[in-house]
Amino acid sequence: MAYNPQDHYFKMAKKEGYLARSAYKLDEIQKRWRVIRAGAKVLDLGCAPGSWSQVALKILGPKGFLRGIDLKPVDLSAAGLRANNAQFLVSDIFTTPKEQFIEAPYDVILSDMAPQTTGSAITDQTRSEELCMKVLELTDELLRPGGHVVMKLFMGGGAKQVELATKSRFQSHHLFRPKGVRKESFEIYLIGVNRRPN
Ligand SMILES: C[S@@+](CC[C@H](N)C(=O)[O-])C[C@H]1O[C@@H](n2cnc3c(N)ncnc32)[C@H](O)[C@@H]1O
Repeated sequence: MAYNPQDHYFKMAKKEGYLARSAYKLDEIQKRWRVIRAGAKVLDLGCAPGSWSQVALKILGPKGFLRGIDLKPVDLSAAGLRANNAQFLVSDIFTTPKEQFIEAPYDVILSDMAPQTTGSAITDQTRSEELCMKVLELTDELLRPGGHVVMKLFMGGGAKQVELATKSRFQSHHLFRPKGVRKESFEIYLIGVNRRPN
């Protein structure tokens, strides 16, 4: 089937006031693993334009907290939202100073980060793997024991290594392809449940 930028999920996101169709991927992951709980502290990496933050904030309620970081700014008011318990930072995750991870340790780290695609599948997959390895490094420092991670990964030659690095840190892990992932995409999500203590 040809690529359709205005597919079913795009139309549904527009109708339901989500800033991106990606919202439904986190929604599906959440329904299965309940990674986010009311009142939790969440770090949302690669959060722009903000649909995962919207989904997370709905679950977190007023007692929860969300820190969002992306190379690009997030403007929740574009979706008619004002969230006092969310703070967004424009920053590259590879160079973000430690003190910017406010409210750490987190209960959940989400990463929907994706490299800018180059047209070379191998380059894109390698960059995606690097992003995931950085996220896992951050889980060592910023995720409480028993906490969960959700990260996007472009499947390629190094995917097994990322999976093994997740397995060593979490009591269980799952590879999952939500229905909302476009057919032509090679992305999947890695979910690490219950971080092992150091
Ligand atoms: C698919 S989008 C995320 C969509 C978002 N989860 C949502 O639901 O609105 C991927 C994002 O990853 C971000 N990103 C990629 N590399 C990054 C990096 N090194 N540091 C921070 N953000 C990064 C991009 O700027 C982009 O906004």
